[in-house]
Amino acid sequence: MRAKAQSEELIPRMGEEMEEEGQEETKSASGKEITTLEDLPGVGPATLEKLRAVGFGDLMAVGVATPGELIDATGMTEAAAKKLIACARSNLKMGFESGEELLKKRQEVLRISTNSKQFDVLLGGGFETGGITECFGEFGSSKTQIAHQLAVNVAKPKELGGQDAYVVYIDTESTFRPERIIEMAKGAGVDPQLILSRIRVARAFNSDHQMLLAEKVEDLIKKENLFVKLVVVDSLTAHFRAEFIGRGTLAERQQKLNKHMHILSKIADIHHLCVYVTNQVMVKPDMFFGDPTTAIGGHIVGHNSQTRIYLRKGKKGSRVAKLIDSPYLADGECMFYVAQEGIRDI
Ligand code: GTP
Ligand code: MG
Repeated sequence: MRAKAQSEELIPRMGEEMEEEGQEETKSASGKEITTLEDLPGVGPATLEKLRAVGFGDLMAVGVATPGELIDATGMTEAAAKKLIACARSNLKMGFESGEELLKKRQEVLRISTNSKQFDVLLGGGFETGGITECFGEFGSSKTQIAHQLAVNVAKPKELGGQDAYVVYIDTESTFRPERIIEMAKGAGVDPQLILSRIRVARAFNSDHQMLLAEKVEDLIKKENLFVKLVVVDSLTAHFRAEFIGRGTLAERQQKLNKHMHILSKIADIHHLCVYVTNQVMVKPDMFFGDPTTAIGGHIVGHNSQTRIYLRKGKKGSRVAKLIDSPYLADGECMFYVAQEGIRDI
């Protein structure tokens, strides 16, 4: 809506920089294959700088952008924005893939172990890269402990079953504890300092800050060249829930949450990393049968999460994980517990 309204009042400020409408470009002005933003026809140094300033760092970012986003970033005309997107897309080969290619992609998916064999089996090997996995459950159901364990397991060396990778931890409730990472690292037989050096933590003060931090993950990957394989958002919904109170603001909250999750999902897809988000539950007072708890964020969170896991407290201090929604795994349950050295099988 906003992008359209804005584009209507735009005068073609970028006209001279853009070439006339014509056939889709597959080569840059110099005849070179288009592989970077600079190669795109009509993108001069000024436009390039504006695009980079708001995080459009490569062809993929432009290819998956909306015209409105590019107009906001650069002030270009709607026609120019559409042309740029089309050109980026045609050079990204974003068309259809064969079943074999998809299978190959699926086989390249990394799985981050939870440290519990049963939990890993439930998830087809562990938390997957390439999408968002959500754990929702009441307080103390182990959402944060799982985040710490995944961080250790993704950062630890390959010889020990890890990925030798970095972790970005967006902490909205100040519950990230380096001491706990040290305990779990020791439990896994890894140097705690190595693990801590591979975790980047940022405290999110409100929902806007949280959204901004999610957008900044790309900077870490590109500017600092970090091999990030896990992004944690703990908790995804707490700030949104606290800030948008009352029915009147629900639509706005859902819209923002949707945008936030789109960004996370895009990062997961483009950079082949796992996004792990946690979510609280609320009690549905009108429910008389079955479990009356339901996840916050409604269908927006549900639809944006590729895999959803419901956590609850079990008998004798155990925790129960139930797979709710997976595109290809069977629904099921398993039990685990949180020990001093980390997550363990019963
Ligand atoms: P909220 O964020 O409050 O909604 O809860 P959560 O689901 O994030 O729970 P969290 O992961 O923080 O805690 C789950 C359980 O892990 C707790 O009930 C404790 O039993 C256990 N736990 C938490 N911290 C430690 C610790 O340092 N050592 C051990 N051994 N267990 C812990
Ligand atoms: Mg927590």
